[in-house]
Amino acid sequence: MAQIFDRSSNALARMSLVLTGLIVIALGVTLDQLQRSPWVTRQGQRPDQPVPFSHKHHVQGLGLQCQYCHTTVEKSSYAGIPPTKTCMNCHAQIWTNAQLLEPVRQSWATGNSLVWTKVHDLPDFVYFNHEIHVNKGLGCSSCHGRVDEMPLMYAQNTLQMEWCLNCHRNPAKNLRPTSEIYNMAWKGPSEDHPVWCSVGEQKSGVPTADSVNCVTHNPAEAGPQLASLELPAGAGHGTVADVAAAKLPAAPIYQKFTSQDGLGHFLLKQYKIRTPRELSSCEVCHR
Ligand code: HEC
Ligand code: HEC
Ligand code: HEC
Ligand code: HEC
Ligand code: HEC
Repeated sequence: MAQIFDRSSNALARMSLVLTGLIVIALGVTLDQLQRSPWVTRQGQRPDQPVPFSHKHHVQGLGLQCQYCHTTVEKSSYAGIPPTKTCMNCHAQIWTNAQLLEPVRQSWATGNSLVWTKVHDLPDFVYFNHEIHVNKGLGCSSCHGRVDEMPLMYAQNTLQMEWCLNCHRNPAKNLRPTSEIYNMAWKGPSEDHPVWCSVGEQKSGVPTADSVNCVTHNPAEAGPQLASLELPAGAGHGTVADVAAAKLPAAPIYQKFTSQDGLGHFLLKQYKIRTPRELSSCEVCHR
């Protein structure tokens, strides 16, 4: 070889190797960033819709609950998009001439469903289920953001694998009482806004979340339990012993939480959430 190539070409070959390496890395980084860019994930984009439906007006303005329209979110994998009938419950009477609502009236008259563009759309090879997330104490806003403040719907999060795993590796930071699932403004407990939880009977077969009862006001200030006690007829001269004999249901014992960390770990246990390791295994989402 030395006869054909002199020393300088050796250096040249090394240079070009290094250069090729650099170009490959640069390309990789670019592709990776493209993968995460809103252009690919559609995060934050507001797609064209047949009707400019405003969650802000209907949820924050009119006070409609999410389940009024997304009826299956607690009991199936899909939250569901409401049929035209749901809109007509009101729009047969109000805003009946609005040009904006012409597609809704058309759909109602012809029986052809409105074709909404999906804002969130996971690839088919990923399994996702609303029911389990909602029933294990994850609020809509943890994944979809402040929907009640969105004039037009957009995706708050990327829905990329990394995003799912970020929570599956540490669910405690997002868990809340199931009674707060639809609370868009939920912030978790703090010193100023504590949360009290009690654990009831655990019936087998029933989602464990059902047996946890949490309140955002101090249950000790709700008034003495005995006030509502009804003694059996004739027990007019009730003594403490009589009261005990009447077999009061034991008052629930409440635990006070002043941080998300404390509440999260309590709920993790009560809701029987699997370990981060189990929740990050491939089969959970790729079946
Ligand atoms: C009056 C009916 C109505 C109510 C109430 C309502 N929604 Fe919707 N929602 C819709 C309609 C219609 C669409 C489809 C059009 C769109 O994307 O804006 C939709 C779309 C969505 C989407 C995006 C679906 C997709 O394409 O990926 C999310 C997320 C959502 N709603 C969450 C909520 C949450 C959370 C609440 C409660 C705070 C709520 N909605 C209350 C009617 C409603
Ligand atoms: C509970 C009654 C109710 C239901 C159900 C309802 N709307 Fe409305 N909608 C209203 C009222 C009231 C207004 C006027 C709001 C305003 O101006 O503040 C309105 C306004 C609108 C507007 C005008 C723009 C805006 O947001 O102010 C559009 C578009 C609209 N609704 C679409 C829909 C669609 C699509 C559905 C079904 C998915 C639907 N609405 C369901 C009561 C309802
Ligand atoms: C753990 C995260 C998470 C939570 C919590 C969550 N969602 Fe979703 N939501 C998603 C994902 C991911 C999709 C996309 C699903 C797909 O493409 O198959 C989605 C899709 C939707 C859609 C589009 C239609 C459908 O059925 O797929 C609606 C509507 C919706 N969510 C409403 C809600 C409401 C209302 C709540 C609260 C009761 C809620 N979501 C809670 C992650 C979540
Ligand atoms: C904010 C937290 C959070 C996010 C974000 C989240 N998850 Fe989950 N996920 C949970 C929790 C908590 C459970 C319940 C675990 C348990 O009960 O052991 C769960 C359970 C699941 C399960 C198990 C369902 C079953 O029936 O066994 C699947 C599948 C799943 N998630 C898929 C996803 C996918 C896909 C995404 C992203 C698109 C996602 N999750 C995003 C918290 C989250
Ligand atoms: C919590 C749910 C979840 C778990 C657990 C999970 N994935 Fe994914 N995975 C996803 C989601 C969501 C996507 C789709 C991402 C997108 O659309 O950008 C995905 C996409 C992929 C892709 C396609 C390429 C890509 O990045 O878009 C591959 C390959 C993959 N996952 C492999 C795995 C392997 C291997 C494991 C186990 C180590 C695993 N996943 C565990 C949710 C999960």
